[in-house]
Amino acid sequence: MPKSGFIAKNISKTVSSGLDILKDIHFSVPARKTLVLLGPSGSGKSTLLRCIAGIENYSGTMVYEGQSLPHMEKGAIGLVFQNFQLFPHKTIMENLMLAPLLKGGKKADILKKAYELLEHFGLKDKVDAYPHQLSGGQKQRIAIARSLMMAPKILLLDEPTSALDPEMVNDVAALLSDIRASCELLVIATHELRLAEKIADYVLFLDGGFVAEMREASDFFKDPHSDRAKKFIANMH
Ligand SMILES: Nc1ncnc2c1ncn2[C@@H]1O[C@H](COP(=O)(O)OP(=O)(O)OP(=O)(O)O)[C@@H](O)[C@H]1O
Ligand SMILES: [Mg+2]
Repeated sequence: MPKSGFIAKNISKTVSSGLDILKDIHFSVPARKTLVLLGPSGSGKSTLLRCIAGIENYSGTMVYEGQSLPHMEKGAIGLVFQNFQLFPHKTIMENLMLAPLLKGGKKADILKKAYELLEHFGLKDKVDAYPHQLSGGQKQRIAIARSLMMAPKILLLDEPTSALDPEMVNDVAALLSDIRASCELLVIATHELRLAEKIADYVLFLDGGFVAEMREASDFFKDPHSDRAKKFIANMH
């Protein structure tokens, strides 16, 4: 177990119906790496991301660089939801500025950062547009830009290719490597194996709420150990 980086111990989650969704999850990832969550639908990937983001109750401990997650400063962990959750009645600029303003930042600084990010993502002309006027891929980039406004140390992305056609996997992979440079740890849940192979440093494979495998990505893709992961990879290639 590394002393630094991200460490999760005994993470469990039971919902009110009594169903165990996450079952005694342990893993650790060094900082400056990308962790990809893989596993069948319903295996608990989104739930684990929401637990890390602190918007879901769980038992167990999560620590990043020696600091317990619930004590990290506001905005240190960002989550981009599968369906983006942009505010529909706010313009793109308002969507980007809202959280940093609520946190008490200076408006001029926030505006400057928003323009920089929009420029970076090639969306400067969408400042005054509303989310419904954007394509799926554009909404996704705005959702990512919005979370980068808070300068998160840890960025969590749930199914970042869900709104995109498969040909855009290379573009997303490039975008994600780019993002990796601006935060310390990326955790990505995806069904897209080609994307996972391109960007993952580590793979956490979940099956029915359990960790079936947690390995360096190159080892995982070369030679998955668990039967469930073998089958998953065989079916998806
Ligand atoms: N609030 C909740 N109440 C009850 N059950 C829930 C709740 N949230 C998730 N679940 C259940 O927990 C399990 C894990 O769901 P989760 O969304 O984390 O899976 P996933 O791996 O992200 O799946 P997918 O690949 O389809 O996105 C599923 O069986 C789901 O039905
Ligand atoms: Mg999910």
